[in-house]
Amino acid sequence: MGEIVVVDDEQSMREFLAICLKRAGHTVETFAAPALALARLREHRFDLVVTDLRMPGELDGIGLLKAIKSPSAPLASDPEVILVTAFATADTALAAMKHGAYDYLTKPFKVDEINTVIDRALEKRALVEENRALRDEVAGRVRLANLLGKSRAMHRVFELIGKIHSTRTSVLITGESGTGKELVARAVHTEGARASRPFVAVNCGAIPEALMESELFGHKKGAFTGAVSDKSGLFHEAIGGTLFLDEIGELSLGLQVKLLRALQERRVKAVGAVDETDVDVRIIAATNRDLEAEVARGAFRADLYYRLNVVEIQLPPLRQRKEDIPLLAEHFLRKFGAEHGRIPRLSPAALAKLEAYDFPGNVRELENIVERTVALGSGETIEPDDLPAVRATRTEPDAPQAFPPEGVDLERLVADYEHVWVTRALEHAGGVRKKAAALLGISFRSMRYRLAKLGFEKANEDDDEPPT
Ligand SMILES: Nc1ncnc2c1ncn2[C@@H]1O[C@H](COP(=O)(O)OP(=O)(O)OP(=O)(O)O)[C@@H](O)[C@H]1O
Ligand SMILES: [Mg+2]
Repeated sequence: MGEIVVVDDEQSMREFLAICLKRAGHTVETFAAPALALARLREHRFDLVVTDLRMPGELDGIGLLKAIKSPSAPLASDPEVILVTAFATADTALAAMKHGAYDYLTKPFKVDEINTVIDRALEKRALVEENRALRDEVAGRVRLANLLGKSRAMHRVFELIGKIHSTRTSVLITGESGTGKELVARAVHTEGARASRPFVAVNCGAIPEALMESELFGHKKGAFTGAVSDKSGLFHEAIGGTLFLDEIGELSLGLQVKLLRALQERRVKAVGAVDETDVDVRIIAATNRDLEAEVARGAFRADLYYRLNVVEIQLPPLRQRKEDIPLLAEHFLRKFGAEHGRIPRLSPAALAKLEAYDFPGNVRELENIVERTVALGSGETIEPDDLPAVRATRTEPDAPQAFPPEGVDLERLVADYEHVWVTRALEHAGGVRKKAAALLGISFRSMRYRLAKLGFEKANEDDDEPPT
């Protein structure tokens, strides 16, 4: 039996479909507008969407279909879509099949008809799911919600999320900027029992300290100048769900005390209020600081640190899990390629160049590089030279202690240095010059020129001139 979303602006139609589908044993949620359905599809995994084709408003049935089928759609699952249409618009529905609809139903239809189409769609979906699971297993890759990775480190992250997602345990996510902390927080939420409840995110570094208390806990009318009415806080908005406290290291010491109290008591007090109210909220916090060091120097409270750190998920920097680079690069190519209507391929040399890079900005930087390359490029294949922003990891040369009084031969020094690195790259690439070039962040042509100049091999005729 499936979990089904029904979208129709007409109430009678929604009710009719809901009754039919529930009678057949499915779970059904109905929505009067595609935008509402889409919001729900982001937080819960459904198998199937049955939507009316013509609806007033910005998004109609086709728009909804496209949004669901877009490769970059941040949905919790990838549901099949069945369109419902009046006889007169059947042509449009047929055209819609091109956008990936599973089938369409023409009004008026019989109950049997719906059930047959829906059963077939669910069967197909079960097959697709099974296939994907098999493929993933074979490739040793895992995906959880939108989180990708095949490295040991990411496998460990997936496992950990699997263990804790349905508890209320507080989670601390640590890692450098751009390693995916927010994505992991969302995965913990959407994989868990609280998925249908709100996920409320707040950046503790972005809100001025004076406002933060009222932001978190709410305030009473008249509690301070400007408090013209009662306002509920983020804790209230997240009731039953998850509150994500991003950049927790930025929280002032005063607020740390108040947050600790809220976590211990599971109760909060609005600014200016007398009574406390119960809040059942799961806390996920994230930081790119070394909180233990902050605790040691007195900038972060030890008691709050231990409360938050019941489970810690550490996201290693991308340079320490390079096995994830091909998978992520391919994912971003698809995502941005789809927006430009063409999905280019990475040449092996270009991939080697990416793998040699150390990504100080981590996954976010890789994402930006791919986005820029897709936007600026026009070819079908991305070559190393199309990745200008990517430099092979730079190592500082050993600087001499003191400048020799007799001076130095700069050309000679540079040439020696070049010799060392070209040799190392060739060794690393198993003698494959193309790969070595990629590892050095230079073009193949430039590589051949250097090899000749350094006396590794004879120059070809067209290599006599330095490359431009
Ligand atoms: N494992 C992953 N799979 C797919 N996409 C990822 C992964 N990790 C990160 N990303 C993407 O990289 C970008 C940065 O991730 P995110 O915002 O979660 O990082 P962060 O650790 O919260 O960074 P910051 O500390 O700067 O806030 C996002 O667009 C996210 O979708
Ligand atoms: Mg973040």
